[in-house]
Amino acid sequence: MKISHRFVVFFLFCFLLLTGCGKKQETGSAPPKEAEKIQPKFTIGMSQCNLGEPWRVQMNLDIKNEAEKHPEIHVTYKDAQNDSLKQRSQIEEYVNAGVDLIIVSPKEAAPLTPPVAAAYEKGIAVIVLDRRVLGDKYTCFIGADNKKIGKAAGHWITEQLGGKGQVVELKGLMTSTPGQDRHSGFREGIKGSDLNIIFEADMKWLEPESRKEMESALARFKNIDLVYAHNDPGAHGAYLAAKATGREKDIIFVGIDALPHEGQVYVRQGVLQASFEYPTGGREAIQTALKILNGKDVPKEITLSSRVFTKENVDSGGEWLDKEGEER
Ligand code: FRU
Repeated sequence: MKISHRFVVFFLFCFLLLTGCGKKQETGSAPPKEAEKIQPKFTIGMSQCNLGEPWRVQMNLDIKNEAEKHPEIHVTYKDAQNDSLKQRSQIEEYVNAGVDLIIVSPKEAAPLTPPVAAAYEKGIAVIVLDRRVLGDKYTCFIGADNKKIGKAAGHWITEQLGGKGQVVELKGLMTSTPGQDRHSGFREGIKGSDLNIIFEADMKWLEPESRKEMESALARFKNIDLVYAHNDPGAHGAYLAAKATGREKDIIFVGIDALPHEGQVYVRQGVLQASFEYPTGGREAIQTALKILNGKDVPKEITLSSRVFTKENVDSGGEWLDKEGEER
């Protein structure tokens, strides 16, 4: 069939009209809506005490994933590399840079208290995540209840051992509040039992440190029934020490954190008999930051729920320590 020349010209004309190619191009680059999207309204400075531990990498990831849903905020990150002095200056740097809000997960309570208080007093909102500072000069604290976790661990351990046995406690950094609370909560949880704490040491949250401490415990004590470590890297370090002497099957290992790709895996593998969840709070920190930046009230304290993971329940999502968690 022969298509007429006129028909082709008419068709082309309609096509150009519909696609808008004939329109005069607007000057300027992006349309205003796009420009709004690209320009964040608020800057958040996040100071992470270290990124050497999987749990902290996860916290930053949780922050990033939640922040990405909100183009009106821009988050910048600093890693204090486990150095309280460095973290102090990072907070001061954020204040000088004029950020709208600071999120800090402090290494230690005392050295981080003055810079947090100074930022807060200057009118910059500060969210303290996971480890506390002293006093109340901050906007909001977010974290799980470490005393409750320690106590639940104490109850679980007492039950596992039938109320008696030789226990090693490998503590988290005792100048940080989770270490203090996981210790005191645990001691409360085993009260009235015949558990004997034969060895305790500060492994500073670090797996190699924990392994070293456990080597001393193994050398000193022929009979160890259980190791309670304040985090999963600590429990794993202790397990490796025991394995190196062929004693890992005689000992029960319990840790805290229960990251899906760390503690929960150890539980599945039978390396740990239990791990208590310690949520990072990264998502909640961003949600709370948004409320603060938009002028809404937030509570001074947000307590996150926790679960215990054992071989029996790890595949079904663990068991909540409290009702609030169950109802989530
Ligand atoms: C990571 C970590 C976690 C622990 C938390 C306590 O640095 O040691 O393993 O649960 O900090 O603040």
